[in-house]
Amino acid sequence: MGKQDDRFIPVHEPLFETKRRIGTVIAYRVFSASVFVCIFLIWFYRVFVPVEIDESRTGLVRLLSLVMLFAEIYFGLYWVVTQSSRWNPVWRFTFADRLSRIYGNDLPRLDVFICTADPVIEPPLLVVNTVLSVAALDYPPEKLAVYLSDDGGSELTFYALTEAAEFAKTWVPFCKKFNVEPRSPAAYLSAKANGLDSSAEEVVKLYREMATRIEMATTHGRVPEEARLKHGDGFSQWDFDTTRRNHGTILQILVDGREEKTRETIPTLVYLSREKRPQHHHHFKAGAMNAMLRISSKITCGRFILNLDCDMYSNNSKSARDALCILLDEKEGKEIAFVQFPQCFDNLTRNDLYGSMMRVGMDVEFNGLDGNGGPLYIGTGCFHRRDVICGRKYGEEEEKSEKIQEISKPEMIKALASCTYEENTQWGKEMGVKYGCPVEDVITGLAIQCRGWKSAYLNPKNKAFLGVAPTNLHQTLVQLRRWSEGDFQILLSEYSPIWYGQGKISLGLILGYCVYCLWAPSSVPVLIYSVLTPLCLIKGIPLFPKVSSSWCIPFGYVTVAANVYSLAEFLWCGGTFRGWWNEQRMWLYRRTSSYLFGFIDTIRKLLGVSESAFVITAKVAEEEGAERYKEEVMEFGVESPMFLLLGTLGMLNLFCFAAAVMRLLTSRDGGDFQTMGLQFGIAGALVVINWPLYEGMLFRKDKGKMPMSVTVKSIVLALSACTCFAFL
Ligand SMILES: *[C@@H]1O[C@H](CO)[C@@H](O)[C@H](O)[C@H]1NC(C)=O
Ligand SMILES: *[C@@H]1O[C@H](CO)[C@@H](O)[C@H](O)[C@H]1NC(C)=O
Repeated sequence: MGKQDDRFIPVHEPLFETKRRIGTVIAYRVFSASVFVCIFLIWFYRVFVPVEIDESRTGLVRLLSLVMLFAEIYFGLYWVVTQSSRWNPVWRFTFADRLSRIYGNDLPRLDVFICTADPVIEPPLLVVNTVLSVAALDYPPEKLAVYLSDDGGSELTFYALTEAAEFAKTWVPFCKKFNVEPRSPAAYLSAKANGLDSSAEEVVKLYREMATRIEMATTHGRVPEEARLKHGDGFSQWDFDTTRRNHGTILQILVDGREEKTRETIPTLVYLSREKRPQHHHHFKAGAMNAMLRISSKITCGRFILNLDCDMYSNNSKSARDALCILLDEKEGKEIAFVQFPQCFDNLTRNDLYGSMMRVGMDVEFNGLDGNGGPLYIGTGCFHRRDVICGRKYGEEEEKSEKIQEISKPEMIKALASCTYEENTQWGKEMGVKYGCPVEDVITGLAIQCRGWKSAYLNPKNKAFLGVAPTNLHQTLVQLRRWSEGDFQILLSEYSPIWYGQGKISLGLILGYCVYCLWAPSSVPVLIYSVLTPLCLIKGIPLFPKVSSSWCIPFGYVTVAANVYSLAEFLWCGGTFRGWWNEQRMWLYRRTSSYLFGFIDTIRKLLGVSESAFVITAKVAEEEGAERYKEEVMEFGVESPMFLLLGTLGMLNLFCFAAAVMRLLTSRDGGDFQTMGLQFGIAGALVVINWPLYEGMLFRKDKGKMPMSVTVKSIVLALSACTCFAFL
């Protein structure tokens, strides 16, 4: 141990390298310039080329062109903003063997923070698997600690964790001995579905028994008596009047790895449910993170912190070492505050019907952000430096105290997680995770970068962490609504990357943040485009140049080039053609529902009409729905204003397109097609892309179809919109 300070590293050996692909970048820039020229031509066309139309309707047509111009200016500018994440991408590769050579097992302490909030939406067994997967990380157990923050304050979750602590004594050594991957028992079992080694049978039997006990307890909502007796001091912290919104701090160190220094131990395991009182704001996940930061500082005080969502298990036991390669690197690593891994899912179908994977975001855009100064902190799968998240500025000296505080009793440190502890402190402001925004992670990351730090993005082939993706359309849209709303709020807040980041982070990174912050407002021009195009089609108002005109070329080029490029990029990231097509559909649905609602909610909040609420998305799927998810059949099933909007837009487009086609067939010269070819094209593409929606509304009989009431309302609304417009 004592060697730590006089360790002598002869020559600086980098622990990671950063690669760029110069050829691809140059090719991309040429392509990007060509698209920009065409965007510019489109603007020019809208401003200077008069629309040919009979005299009677000029007023309306002028107005429509103006609206289209607005949408096209927005698209063009947004496109410029998105270029920031493709302009200068980098890829990082680590040398874990060098890390082992230099440090051996003498690695810094690592604390893992896992947040859970609801034992129903996030079943204890799922949480336990996440805990076990990180407990078995390829890391010296005496240097590793796992903290579970339970904002549900649930005895069931606590009980599950006591079971996990027991099972870990078998599981962790087993994983290390046989080099098991992945190290979440459930994931390991499903990967080994056909045939186990004899060495594994005993362990698997133990796991199954544990899983049965936990599931029994969960379904009955009752903790077994034996467990209560065995962990009396833990359970005694629940009073008869404890509810999830009203209870004192519950803190239990289930495994204390600080004292025994033998090799065969398992990591420290701590359960925390911070104090909750109805009259105090608890700041959701950010509050939980900050409570864990303080509590852990008195228990293990890891120099590095890994933050995970409770459904995100470790699928690659080397991830901690990979991250340390970056954070401990003597040269470049010194300026890096956090290492973000991508958010991946183990629960996706082949063609990713709901586009949950954000394949391009994770395989292209985040590398682009990294080239500009570092990816966003996305709240899970991220390794932090403790002192940086607690406020250290770049350039300030790191306090190198690796010694643990004298061991304090849990009773003495509980006060750190009380409701009132943060009053009149910098917690939530300059210290820890910031408060006051639905996507607190993003502003926290931004603030760190504004203090002079960089961040790094690591995306190893064997994905480091895998979560559970939403398995139906509604959950997906709700989640995106929250994200888009939060990101847009950031843009308007004091932490807006535009003014807060000004002069502190690079322009490329400011634009990189804006890509996400502008999700919500992007809904408006998309809505305009997808409503006006079909409506004008039936009314016979051309919105675009004639097919024979050479002004068609820029429109055509932008459309074709953008789509071919995005398809190529998607396939390059390992996607399928259908996957790309699904993603295009989700592109549209996200903008015309989630983002639009996110936009409206933000505006309402600005005007003081409503308060923000944090909606957790459910992590379990009901059985029949799960079957449809596997078959990639789109799931509607619930009555939701978002579906009403999607349904209305879909129907509107269908009616308009059908009417226009009828007119084309009955007309003698096909003149409509001449003047409105592009509109036919767009409306036709919308019909094709909306096909699953039409099926769900009109043809399907199963439970996942669109509810009848939504279908009827959508049709009525769409018909009235068409009629109104026709008489305009
Ligand atoms: C995830 O998807 C798989 C099928 O791809 C399914 O068997 C499993 O039950 C799903 N899990 C959850 C939690 O939805
Ligand atoms: C998860 O880990 C397993 C075992 O190492 C690997 O085969 C699999 O490809 C990983 N999954 C992903 C999505 O990377």
